[in-house]
Amino acid sequence: MAMSWHMMVEFEPPLVACIVSSADHSFAAMRATRECVIAIPALKLAPQVVQVGNSSGRSIDKFETFGLTPVPAHRVTPPLVAECFANLECKVADTRFVKKYNLFILEVLKAWTDPAQKKPKTIHHHGFGTFVVDGETIKLISKMR
Ligand SMILES: Cc1cc2nc3c(=O)[nH]c(=O)nc-3n(C[C@H](O)[C@H](O)[C@H](O)COP(=O)(O)O)c2cc1C
Repeated sequence: MAMSWHMMVEFEPPLVACIVSSADHSFAAMRATRECVIAIPALKLAPQVVQVGNSSGRSIDKFETFGLTPVPAHRVTPPLVAECFANLECKVADTRFVKKYNLFILEVLKAWTDPAQKKPKTIHHHGFGTFVVDGETIKLISKMR
């Protein structure tokens, strides 16, 4: 699935919250396996992001259909996406908010980055096919990581 509703929750252990609709195949898969991979695409994958987010893994193999390459993960069964600049192997850490909000708390067990994609341009979903591409980086003095 494509996912835009997500946020960091904790540094140690690294926790990420995400909303996965109960209508999605991904919801059933995460419920059943308690594992997933968050694969982070750069700008060049935007068309595939939209295609992945407009179809269901219930009826098609999205890797094959959209020209993506599955790579075995180390700590979880679902594969990484080779074309993505970062991949996060996750286990479901808390399901207390799933019933009410479809909100899963995931713990990142292992993180990968692609050294070939040095400063990838990321995309940020504004809805209905509109995305903002990240721009200029600014550097300020700050104590916060
Ligand atoms: C850019 C984009 C972002 C999306 N973000 C979310 C999201 O945060 N949560 C969600 O439940 N569905 C989201 N969707 C919709 C799912 O990706 C979509 O329902 C998908 O078909 C589910 O696939 P699946 O049935 O294989 O799990 C998004 C779709 C797009 C195109």
